[in-house]
Amino acid sequence: MKLLFIGDVVGKPGRQMVDEYLPKLKKKHKPAVTIVNGENAAGGKGITEKIYKGFLEKGAQAVTLGNHTWDNKEIFEFIDHASSMIRPANYPEETPGQGYTIIKVNELEIAVVNLIGRTFMQPNDCPFKKVDSILKEVEKRTSYIFVDFHAETTSEKQAMGWFLDGRVTAVAGTHTHVQTADNRILPKGTGYISDVGMTGPMDGILGMEKENIINKFLTSLPVRFEVADGREQLNGILIEADSKTGKTKKIERLQISEDQPFFE
Ligand SMILES: [Fe+2]
Repeated sequence: MKLLFIGDVVGKPGRQMVDEYLPKLKKKHKPAVTIVNGENAAGGKGITEKIYKGFLEKGAQAVTLGNHTWDNKEIFEFIDHASSMIRPANYPEETPGQGYTIIKVNELEIAVVNLIGRTFMQPNDCPFKKVDSILKEVEKRTSYIFVDFHAETTSEKQAMGWFLDGRVTAVAGTHTHVQTADNRILPKGTGYISDVGMTGPMDGILGMEKENIINKFLTSLPVRFEVADGREQLNGILIEADSKTGKTKKIERLQISEDQPFFE
């Protein structure tokens, strides 16, 4: 079973990369499941219903989110019926939306869980205890379990990887927008990467216009963040899981940009 995950899609440039390359990636790699992190997809902050549906039309079966989940207020109008969209599971119980979903592909079931970190981020419920309680339910149904851990620090992400080793197919980090080269299979069979990287502008700072951010560092004044323009990139991972155990057999990084062109 192959699973394709596209890292944080930033604004229109990111959506254009998904529109152009997701169908090509699907044709080339034939993943059973495709997941997109869309928390930055609407102008860098949040997601709209049109964008969510656009990801599904291009071939994603699940959309994950993160700390920008609520930044586009439109989300409150569609989150309750967006059955393929998940927001961090360790938000408080009262929070709208769902923290995991189960995708059905023929007779296969693949669980997708979204979690958010707590180190250098807003306070939330414990992602470790939350995933533990989710797995107690999900493990009864499937051994294919994918976790998008949206977190700031590598240490918290690594801790999650080791915490879940042997219990899930893979733990993939998102949020920091720079792809890390530490993709590996942990000893008990869980695929791991600290950060998948982002999909969108290549010449900004984490996808945002660089001048404003440089000025922020120079002056400490508040600045408006705008999505950068110019060259674009796509970052993702491709996981191959064992058809009996759900454990990862291969975890590969994907990068598409002017420097690393896509080959059919
Ligand atoms: Fe984020």
